[in-house]
Amino acid sequence: MELTFKNCKKYEDQKFHTVSFADSIPTDSGVVVSFSNCLILPTFCDVHVHLREPGFFYKETILTGTRASARGGYSDVFSMPNLDPVPDTVENIRVQLDIIERDAVINVHPYASITMGEKGERLVDFESLKKYTRWFSDDGRGVQSLEMMEEAMQIAKKNDLMIVAHCEDNSLLRGGYIHDGEYSKAHGHKGICSESEWGPIKRDLELAERTGCKYHVCHISTKESVELIREAKKRGVDVTCETGPHYLTLDDSMLEEDGRFKMNPPLRSKEDREALIEGIIDGTIDMIATDHAPHSAEEKSRGLMGSMMGVVGIETAFPVLYTKLVKTGVVSLERLVELLSINPRKRFGLPATKDFTVWDMNEEFNVDPDEFLSKGRATPFKGERLFGRCKLTTCNGKVAYFNK
Ligand code: DOR
Ligand code: ZN
Repeated sequence: MELTFKNCKKYEDQKFHTVSFADSIPTDSGVVVSFSNCLILPTFCDVHVHLREPGFFYKETILTGTRASARGGYSDVFSMPNLDPVPDTVENIRVQLDIIERDAVINVHPYASITMGEKGERLVDFESLKKYTRWFSDDGRGVQSLEMMEEAMQIAKKNDLMIVAHCEDNSLLRGGYIHDGEYSKAHGHKGICSESEWGPIKRDLELAERTGCKYHVCHISTKESVELIREAKKRGVDVTCETGPHYLTLDDSMLEEDGRFKMNPPLRSKEDREALIEGIIDGTIDMIATDHAPHSAEEKSRGLMGSMMGVVGIETAFPVLYTKLVKTGVVSLERLVELLSINPRKRFGLPATKDFTVWDMNEEFNVDPDEFLSKGRATPFKGERLFGRCKLTTCNGKVAYFNK
């Protein structure tokens, strides 16, 4: 494939430069393509996606999930372990690695679970799994036992592994399924309090400080979480965290009675959203991850109360963030590239990428879930008018996505 770029903006050495040049990528066809007035970015890296295979292929597969990711500008994703079988032994993680090897169109880095079957009762054998992964998470649920989390962190520290935590205190949930706030009160829904997230974060930050473990917090959504992590970083705790595009751009005042607004943690209050944006600006929040969590249409059709938790996000993340945060002047495009591409690779120990993704940011479109490459269709951004269309994504020097 022969490529020419005219008057494009390319991110290099932490800055954007206006460039015109020719390039080529090895492909079977000799297609000649020219891009003008486009953005050329280092491919994104998402440390939090659910690819649902093995076990839940009716929601998503490695093939559909990685195709969707490439279209979103990603060449690296980290796949969460709430699967069947759960990757909690060498044998079980190999099941997923075999499918990745066969079907993935981009790089997939699987997490192993922290506890056997993500049941929170017995730790996995970290030492045998470390040949296959360096990242451990029980995402989908929190590790309830302090003693178990402390032991996991001690072992992780000794073996230079990362603990990536979904923080949720089950004893505080009380049947809640959206944020415990104005909307839940006004509409008679059961709420999830903020403490169910920040309580375990507080506990884990003390454990991470004591053990020296490399610790990462998933999908933070509350203002208290931002403040706790800000303070912990000041004390020198080896902690990083992520939030998602929806927590930065939506809040519970925008909820509708529809399963496409339901995810865990839930959309919080306006004050929480503002605190997250503050965290993005001051560096407390290190990266943005989508928590791409596809479910079937039926599983998402049961309203706020009955639908499953989780929304898709890998195909809309960059247009959402560009339209709602960059175009409005809240964050710079340079900072967004750090959050989506540079920082996740640095923290999770991947080399800086040579792959790139090309976007026409002048192209406007309406979010139409029926166009997604993902099998999941539930998104809170359905129908929104956004800027930015992906034209090309490379992975390991080859074309992973192309659409002129
Ligand atoms: O919304 C969510 N969906 N949050 C989680 O923690 C799990 C995820 C899923 O697996 O569907
Ligand atoms: Zn989670």
